[in-house]
Amino acid sequence: MSELTDQIKAAGDYIRKYWQEIPVAGIILGSGLGNLAKEIENSVEISYRDIPHFPESTVEGHSGKLILGYMKGKPVVAMAGRFHYYEGFSMRQVTFPVRVMKELGIATLFISNAAGGMNAAFKVGDLMIIRDHINLQPEHPLRGRNEDTLGPRFPDMSEPYSKALIAAAGNIAAANNISLHTGVYVGVQGPTFETRAEYKYMHIIGGDAVGMSTVPEVIVAAHAGLKVFAMSVITDIGIREEENVITHEEVLEAANAAEPKLTLIFSELIRQL
Ligand code: HPA
Repeated sequence: MSELTDQIKAAGDYIRKYWQEIPVAGIILGSGLGNLAKEIENSVEISYRDIPHFPESTVEGHSGKLILGYMKGKPVVAMAGRFHYYEGFSMRQVTFPVRVMKELGIATLFISNAAGGMNAAFKVGDLMIIRDHINLQPEHPLRGRNEDTLGPRFPDMSEPYSKALIAAAGNIAAANNISLHTGVYVGVQGPTFETRAEYKYMHIIGGDAVGMSTVPEVIVAAHAGLKVFAMSVITDIGIREEENVITHEEVLEAANAAEPKLTLIFSELIRQL
């Protein structure tokens, strides 16, 4: 076994001491989107700092614990707080929890994030299902010797986001009068928000929303053969012509306000698993 697989196993063994279920899904909660965790029943919580080899999260709005319990009766593991490259972690650290959730037994990964809108049809508070992404982050989580037991050297990325889950989410949204966009997420390093020219550039190359997370976790999930469903809450609009200052507080506020819609879609999808 390699050092990485040893570490994944050690983290998994530690978590299994506190919770013996096999989760069907993992959930990564984005900035200001932690309320979904309240829907998890009979839960056990474990601080990241107690789990062997887990990094510790440093951003406001990310509390930093694993929540294990039942959502609509289905065993799930949720991350309240995720790791970002801009915090100084390596991509291997950023994606370590995805590998641990896979080790625990998940087959599907749900991801939420706050993102800046670049599509002229988007408004603050809208939801966008990620149907594809463009990776503009500077380090690749799979760089280095490939661990063949975790996945292939050259993973296919033609459908990293499950078409079946996207279709199911569309049906759930329609049945509940929730309007949804689907679009392309551009993953960037941060921690600056984008300049006006950068937002424009990212729109020109095919992006509908931009954010500082998600892409590394999706890549490692694809490597591991997990199905993925990911959704952005549009918390600011980067392409406005008028005065347009974007703050972290406004991002958290918009994410919080849109959270109930996102929770409904995630929990219904999990119920249907
Ligand atoms: N850019 C990058 N990341 C973000 C944004 C944005 O405009 N909004 C929320 N996260």
